[in-house]
Amino acid sequence: MALNPYDTPRGKLRSRVEATRRQFLLLVGAVGALGATLFGGLELLKFMFPAATLEAPPQFKTHFTVDDLTGSGTLKVNVLSDTANRVTVVLDTIGIYAVYLVCTHLGCTPNYVSDVTSGTGVTDTAQTVAKHYNAEGGAISTRNGWACPCHGSRYFIDSTNFYGPAPRPMDWVDISMSPDKFFVVNRAAITVYRQAGDTSVPRWRLDPKTGKSNGATIGV
Ligand code: FES
Repeated sequence: MALNPYDTPRGKLRSRVEATRRQFLLLVGAVGALGATLFGGLELLKFMFPAATLEAPPQFKTHFTVDDLTGSGTLKVNVLSDTANRVTVVLDTIGIYAVYLVCTHLGCTPNYVSDVTSGTGVTDTAQTVAKHYNAEGGAISTRNGWACPCHGSRYFIDSTNFYGPAPRPMDWVDISMSPDKFFVVNRAAITVYRQAGDTSVPRWRLDPKTGKSNGATIGV
């Protein structure tokens, strides 16, 4: 009579090991199936209830007016920032423009500084002074611009990059005036886009008296 291989002590042991292995594989399969179901359910829930974005819309009204910027209001400055919305409005001798404060390196928000070359080792040239500073009658009134807090890039007041890893100038965006003289900025409407190495000073401006732009866009 043939001997049942599972009837020996060794066979019984093997049978127990196989049963344990089957149970383990079943357990692994069940855990995997449960995980997949939970993950799928969560994704479905996320799809049904999308997260609301708290980001401000691209077009917004600033909290300052043309009089604040030109000095006929209570403030006497020529640069006003809405850092929450990452926009600075600048008045120069030609008119008004708005710089979108997104560093062209990795997107941090540069800070306004009144001595932009400080600590960079960059020395002013006659061309720099003439092109990029608020100069009156050949004298520099302010060496203002932006300094990026992340990796140290610097930009002149016209948003031209000159130091650090930023590859190109920051963009300018559309700015207009509401009937109550507050500025309205549209960050979705780029008025000046310059490539790497372009140090030309953009000509786009908003006329503070008429509230109309001259339409002189670049690269858009
Ligand atoms: S993000 Fe501005 S220098 Fe890197």
